[in-house]
Amino acid sequence: MPIINAVAALHEDVTAWRRDLHENPELQYDVHRTAAIVAEKLKAFGCDEVVTGIGKTGVVGVIRGRNTASGRVIGLRADMDALPIEEITALPYASKVKGKMHACGHDGHTAMLLGAARYLAETRNFNGTAIVIFQPAEEGGAGGKAMVDDGMMDRFGVQEVYGMHNAPGMPVGQFGTRVGSLLAAADFLEVEIEGKGAHAAEPHKGVDTLVVAANVLLALQSIVARNVDPLKSAVVTIGALNGGFTHNVIPQTAKLLGTVRTLLPETRDLMEKRIIETVHGIAAAYGAKATVDYKRNYPCTVNHARETEFAVSVAAEVAGRDRVEANVPPIMAGEDFSFMLEARPGNMIWIGNGDTAACHHPAYDFNDAAIPHGISYWARLIEKGMPG
Ligand code: NI
Repeated sequence: MPIINAVAALHEDVTAWRRDLHENPELQYDVHRTAAIVAEKLKAFGCDEVVTGIGKTGVVGVIRGRNTASGRVIGLRADMDALPIEEITALPYASKVKGKMHACGHDGHTAMLLGAARYLAETRNFNGTAIVIFQPAEEGGAGGKAMVDDGMMDRFGVQEVYGMHNAPGMPVGQFGTRVGSLLAAADFLEVEIEGKGAHAAEPHKGVDTLVVAANVLLALQSIVARNVDPLKSAVVTIGALNGGFTHNVIPQTAKLLGTVRTLLPETRDLMEKRIIETVHGIAAAYGAKATVDYKRNYPCTVNHARETEFAVSVAAEVAGRDRVEANVPPIMAGEDFSFMLEARPGNMIWIGNGDTAACHHPAYDFNDAAIPHGISYWARLIEKGMPG
């Protein structure tokens, strides 16, 4: 079954909402205009409950089916925030806010979930409760975690949760996902080395901080090469190595800044442990001191098996079986839907955005042609998951 007819009729309205959001991007938790529009529309659609201010500026809508005797509750999640990027498109609906743009398609995600909410509130052709979740601060602010920490899952009785993100490069009308890790854990690393400053001509009177820092940088790479199972994935990248000021002085301190990406929780634990041991071991070998600040940011986005199989079956109904890739390779970017998948079983799926610029590129634009596919996927997920 392709696009639902009633959904095709929504295409024009949802495109207009999407473009209005695109023109008015907001960052992080500061999504007041967007959240107000979302709440106002959910109320106008006749949602049974609309709650604002969850996880600071998140919005949740409750839509009960014609029957709720099944006791089933499924959550659908979209993100609302934009990025601090200056848009370079000449689109008629390009960002009106300097230095901010919807460069990751969250305008499209929000509009599609609103479209699905309207369809579900009008038809109610299911036995159970649909929870539509609109989160702030996906881009580095952990808004998904804030909503979970605010008790959202228990408060609304969410039993399973589903996410969707557009995928530039994947044809419109196609879907892709996988069981297990779809996106990586993305952690931050800050290492400070303190040696002993000295005259460059008298190294024996000091501890050369930069020699220690250089050895630390190289040794960190050998953790990936020598400690991580070659069939598992890990990346450590040091993006900044700062220390010293001039030719003839051994500096007292140096600092390394980096990121660590892993696809499995056990690889993440291993990387954190070995990085701390390696930095301290090398510093000690040279007689220097080191401090390591390993900041756990977003965890791995891990899709659950049963829910992923179900998501694939729903996508196959909407797109056709040959247009759903059930085992896409994972990517090393991070996503804070991971926090919701830690709280409840569920799945995140890619939806084709066609041949557009990549996410986070200043020429990116969400593809409005994907809208009916996305809404149909959400609608069928609820109707098939809670048949009534
Ligand atoms: Ni995104």
